[in-house]
Amino acid sequence: MKTELQYKTSLTTVEDMSQFASRFAKTVNTGVIIYLQGPLGVGKTTLTRGFLRGLGYNDKVKSPSYTLVESYHVVDRTVDRTIFHFDFYRINDPRELEHIGIQEYFTANAICLIEWPEKGFPFLPEADLDCYLAFSERGREICLIARSAKGREIIGGL
Ligand SMILES: Nc1ncnc2c1ncn2[C@@H]1O[C@H](COP(=O)(O)OP(=O)(O)O)[C@@H](O)[C@H]1O
Ligand SMILES: [Mg+2]
Repeated sequence: MKTELQYKTSLTTVEDMSQFASRFAKTVNTGVIIYLQGPLGVGKTTLTRGFLRGLGYNDKVKSPSYTLVESYHVVDRTVDRTIFHFDFYRINDPRELEHIGIQEYFTANAICLIEWPEKGFPFLPEADLDCYLAFSERGREICLIARSAKGREIIGGL
């Protein structure tokens, strides 16, 4: 299901999720903030892995649940990008984000994927795109909602 602001689909297997994430990544420009929302084990990190593969990153993708952030550098013929993958699950006080200098990450050539963004409020900028993941009988449901012009471009490209 797709409108100008929303894209919804079901993903039965991990392979489906990876393929979707890879296609999704190819529609994303830089200077974009994506919130990954949903319960533990629903597939936020799995999606990020597929996303990075889609951008040509072939090394290991670790969950940043202890480190708060992992960064990846992807260079291809035309663009040079940094992808920051955050996981704020273990944050007890959002002020911890000030200590890691969170604002420095949100630059024009970065793509930021953020798990558990609600734990970082109010120190996070608004998302361009909200990505909601949910468990379902068929596997996983995913719903992307655009929150800015950049977000609408992503949905338009899917
Ligand atoms: N359709 C699916 N999409 C994503 N993950 C799936 C799917 N089906 C099963 N899984 C499994 O669910 C788990 C998701 O874990 P993970 O991506 O770490 O979740 P989160 O980061 O949301 O806590 C993985 O063990 C993965 O293999
Ligand atoms: Mg995770």
